[in-house]
Amino acid sequence: MTCSHLYALEAGLEAAFTVDASRVTFGRGALAEVGDRVRALGARRVALITDRRLRALPWFAEVDAALRAAGVDVAVFDDVAIEPTDASLERAVRFARDARPDGYVSLGGGSVIDTAKIANLLASHPAPLLDYVNAPIGGGRAVPGPLAPHVACPTTSGTGSEVTGIAIFDLLAMHAKTGVASPRLRPHEAVVDPRVTATLPAGVVAASGLDVLCHALESYTARPFTRRPPPVAPTARPMSQGANPWSDLGCREALRLLGAYLVRAVRDAADDEAREQVMWAATLAGIAFGNAGVHAPHAMAYAVAGRVRDYRAAGYPDDAPLVPHGFAVAVNAPAVFGRFASTSPGRHLEAAALLGADIAGAGPDDAGPRVAAAVADLMAAVAAPNGLGGVGYGTADIPALVAGAAPQRRLLDNAPVEVTAPILDALFHAALTCW
Ligand SMILES: [Fe+2]
Repeated sequence: MTCSHLYALEAGLEAAFTVDASRVTFGRGALAEVGDRVRALGARRVALITDRRLRALPWFAEVDAALRAAGVDVAVFDDVAIEPTDASLERAVRFARDARPDGYVSLGGGSVIDTAKIANLLASHPAPLLDYVNAPIGGGRAVPGPLAPHVACPTTSGTGSEVTGIAIFDLLAMHAKTGVASPRLRPHEAVVDPRVTATLPAGVVAASGLDVLCHALESYTARPFTRRPPPVAPTARPMSQGANPWSDLGCREALRLLGAYLVRAVRDAADDEAREQVMWAATLAGIAFGNAGVHAPHAMAYAVAGRVRDYRAAGYPDDAPLVPHGFAVAVNAPAVFGRFASTSPGRHLEAAALLGADIAGAGPDDAGPRVAAAVADLMAAVAAPNGLGGVGYGTADIPALVAGAAPQRRLLDNAPVEVTAPILDALFHAALTCW
């Protein structure tokens, strides 16, 4: 199956896709540009959102100094929870309403950037958080207008949150991850300085790198944009518009870079080249999935992370059980790609090759096993948990995991096949071990 067949037009279905991206500044030393960039966006008093670990690192002092040197007032909020909850977001929203900033700078991983997005949203357009959360879990209310300028500075090579309009959090009452998605949530600028990855523990590089892998591979294999109904209005075309020729570019290059550099980046913090290339892969995959959307592995991950019992990962705070997002996604990945490969065998085989697998002589029927093995091999090489069993789940947990994943329609509807509860059940069973 070739790409041109994948995007063959059908009467009555979508015939166009929209490319949307933040301005991105990428390079060593880029953090020094934050002050000038914030000022150029018109902000004079910013909320600088970060977490306590980062506040003690030199990157925070650099950004703070750059802002002050540009004549920008700074109010610091460092109480971001890793894997934010509706309760932790409320603290940031209260801070933003009291501090009354006219701009936001986030310095951190996805949790920090997502927290800044929600604080900006609810300070700019006050309403209960659940009103804006994706239906059917929340009210699915559209964001009514622009948000204050937001410059996002990622410090992990993973989430891509700096270039997407998505904010994810844990809804405590439901034990499930959910989120808000709107192009208006997309940060105005991303400042990506690969120097920050030098201070990341190996476990964080592994988990966030596998998140990048899944962003790229899910976007690459998502339901093609040409198989969606047209939007009710051109401007209502969803960000999760499905695989398209633009997102394909970033996906392919991100997969190639991960195949070449992820293991090196995890094993050696001093390997600047590898860590920088993985950071670039994260940026590319973030732009791609912000324009295509991820699918089943991420939908399943929200249940995997939300129902954690006692799993703890090296390199992450150990004060509470936590399945890092990248691991929560990756444990589902071999099962999903292995079973969905028949929808576009050529793409799945190509992905396996980009990740470094030898696909000589492989035919369409080999696509599932080959791509599943390519992902699982990389997971094992970076010491990721071996499937759901590796993060503490067994067969008895599967009904609850299905119940947590089934409402994630925004993601499941972006899969290349219809994903029903029985299919989720089969996928979770297949995901109990990855190798
Ligand atoms: Fe992700």
